[in-house]
Amino acid sequence: MALYSEKVMDHFKNPRNVGTIEDASGVGTVGNAKCGDIMKIYLKIEDNIIVDVKFETFGCGSAIASSSMATVMIKGKSVDEALELSNKAVAEALDGLPKHKMHCSLLAEEAIKAAVKDYYDKAGIEYDHEMFKDLGEHDEDED
Ligand code: FES
Repeated sequence: MALYSEKVMDHFKNPRNVGTIEDASGVGTVGNAKCGDIMKIYLKIEDNIIVDVKFETFGCGSAIASSSMATVMIKGKSVDEALELSNKAVAEALDGLPKHKMHCSLLAEEAIKAAVKDYYDKAGIEYDHEMFKDLGEHDEDED
């Protein structure tokens, strides 16, 4: 069996929603201390709906494929639905990732959360800080 699914290869070679949004409602940047990869997500939000989303990922192929798939999955969805997107769901949508590459999909989940938090902060929307408490706190052992 190939290490990477066709979907992973497709989203790696033809990533969707690459780029930036100049007047983004929220921008989230996260990194993985272990591999040094960085992901940045831009959200354009209108009436609680993600009307546009773009990403820039300086990272491995799995991180690029995960960001691409994650942006496809949240575009047109509500902010709450985007917050519920888990890295497992992203990996499943890609027909799986090798176990040692699951942390790459976690970057996508976290970058979205960080972008939503930025949106809440900028728009002055109240939120439970507990929701974002784990962002960016990954130790060296994480896989
Ligand atoms: Fe770092 Fe994939 S190896 S995100």
